Amino acid sequence: MSQWAHKAAIFAALDRLEEHCPGQRGHAERVSVYAVATAERLAFSLDDLATVRDAALLHDLGKLAIESELLNGRGTLDREGLLMMKVHCDAFAWIADSLGLPSEILALGPIVVAHHERWDGTGYPMQLAGEAIPPAARVISVAEVFDAMVTGSWKPPMPEEETLAAIRELSGHAFEPAAVEAFFRVQPLIQPVAEPLAGPPRSMPRAARRWRASRPDSR
Ligand SMILES: [Fe+2]
Repeated sequence: MSQWAHKAAIFAALDRLEEHCPGQRGHAERVSVYAVATAERLAFSLDDLATVRDAALLHDLGKLAIESELLNGRGTLDREGLLMMKVHCDAFAWIADSLGLPSEILALGPIVVAHHERWDGTGYPMQLAGEAIPPAARVISVAEVFDAMVTGSWKPPMPEEETLAAIRELSGHAFEPAAVEAFFRVQPLIQPVAEPLAGPPRSMPRAARRWRASRPDSR
């Protein structure tokens, strides 16, 4: 499959997810940026970085298996709702298959399924612990929790500083310590995308104005 077709398949799947649960596409794209930067800091190979990118983009695709009322209701979930939500990890394989996604995307299954496992073995769905969790899932897990907390996917958004303190506290419990350290090195380098734009738009830089003025269609 060509690279173009590969990307088109991923973005078409994300479109479906966004339609079902608005906001998921932005979450997936931000998690992908954080996770790839973290993995790059951890010296993942180029092939593995591409795997992290794709798995991060599709980490919540299994939410297509969950009723949109449950996904879009904000606030605390009851026990039954929580159990249903957990299904989204395992659901990746059959959702990806039913969307006709290619085999190289189906091969992301073991990473996607493990994105809610915890370093101490108390996560789900398989209670994997430590190095039994695929390395790509360990970096996606940190990125996903950070983005969910700071943008307020379920609860009111948390200030960035508080969120970072919570991530630090979860190091060695929910998260691999090395993944947390790498995340802390790259996170300040990434422009916060969740914050609303404040004030009037910035003026166009001089070089951009010159380029714009030089275009024949600018008059
Ligand atoms: Fe998830």
